[in-house]
Amino acid sequence: MTAPADRQLPKQADPSAPLLEVQGLRTQFRLGSEVVHAVDGVSFRLERGESLGIAGESGCGKTTTALSLVGLLPANARVLEGSVRLYGIELAGRSEIGLRRYRWREIAIVFQGAMNALNPVRRIRDQIAEPIVQRLQVDEGAARRKAGDLLELVGIPRARDRAYPHELSGGMRQRAMIAMALACDPAILIGDEPTTALDVMIQAQILELLERLRSQLGLSLILITHDLAVIAETCDRVMVMYAGRVAEEGRVADVFARPRHPYTQRLLGSIPNLRVDRRALDIIPGSPPDLRDPPPGCRFAPRCPVVMEICRTEIPPEVRFADGVRVACHQYPESSDGRPVILPTKEPGTSR
Ligand SMILES: Nc1ncnc2c1ncn2[C@@H]1O[C@H](COP(=O)(O)OP(=O)(O)OP(=O)(O)O)[C@@H](O)[C@H]1O
Ligand SMILES: [Mg+2]
Repeated sequence: MTAPADRQLPKQADPSAPLLEVQGLRTQFRLGSEVVHAVDGVSFRLERGESLGIAGESGCGKTTTALSLVGLLPANARVLEGSVRLYGIELAGRSEIGLRRYRWREIAIVFQGAMNALNPVRRIRDQIAEPIVQRLQVDEGAARRKAGDLLELVGIPRARDRAYPHELSGGMRQRAMIAMALACDPAILIGDEPTTALDVMIQAQILELLERLRSQLGLSLILITHDLAVIAETCDRVMVMYAGRVAEEGRVADVFARPRHPYTQRLLGSIPNLRVDRRALDIIPGSPPDLRDPPPGCRFAPRCPVVMEICRTEIPPEVRFADGVRVACHQYPESSDGRPVILPTKEPGTSR
């Protein structure tokens, strides 16, 4: 594997640009004559070596956001708008061939539930070698050797590389999926619920592995999870999504110490102890809107404990606090002259 300092940036990369900058991403699905507004104006940034956690209830658009970045959406989906810049290089709007240079080589993904989708009748090593042949255009022997190296890197001894999926534990299968994603030395690894369905001890081991890979390979991570405790423990930044939009985004320390969006407050407030209750997302009263026909203003308005009239009709603009936390909520004042507002971190009356 390539050490971070030796990693070659892609052609046309601007070394001073952020690693990944997503702006105003909008992705929709077509379902017959209806449209699902799955991702609606999502923006975020990921710097080199950073880890960003994406949280939010089921169906809020976490997976769709991730798949939009690398053009791996299902056939009925379309990215309508937005910019996805990698080292300043625009990826949005590129053709399939144009994207191939960056997918897996720069941004790799461990798909949600993929460890359960392994082929039961093929050896794990061969299943990892196959995409290596395609992505790196090497022969089968070289791909198998690389697969063995990658498996060792993620903690699966070479002696086990001839095992079939059923001979490996869930944790080992997930390690194998991570190995597969690392085949082309990506700069960014996206893990979509990589620890869901694993028991707590194994979850911790997978998170430790991701942490080790981050420091050993200089990886930047996007960790999608409904489990806020995982984000609190492992991420630098957190982005809380609600119904296809960003409710709040900022450094983990700032957001968890002082959540500002009522949704984030409910998420965190409903967890008396992060380590004890991991089903917090299920216990906020009400349910997220149907994204085929979302409410016109703030999408959280129907469930919001501090809803105001304006929330039902107008989309809340994003405001920024002095500590860098971004929040989309009408409670916080917006500038009247169109300039970005910087709110003090400890403004009286805004904390609850
Ligand atoms: N192939 C599809 N066709 C139509 N609608 C889809 C499709 N995939 C997802 N959606 C819809 O898009 C929205 C966002 O889904 P997405 O899978 O991105 O959410 P998620 O946050 O990843 O949820 P989960 O936590 O359950 O994985 C949901 O309303 C979902 O029903
Ligand atoms: Mg998902």
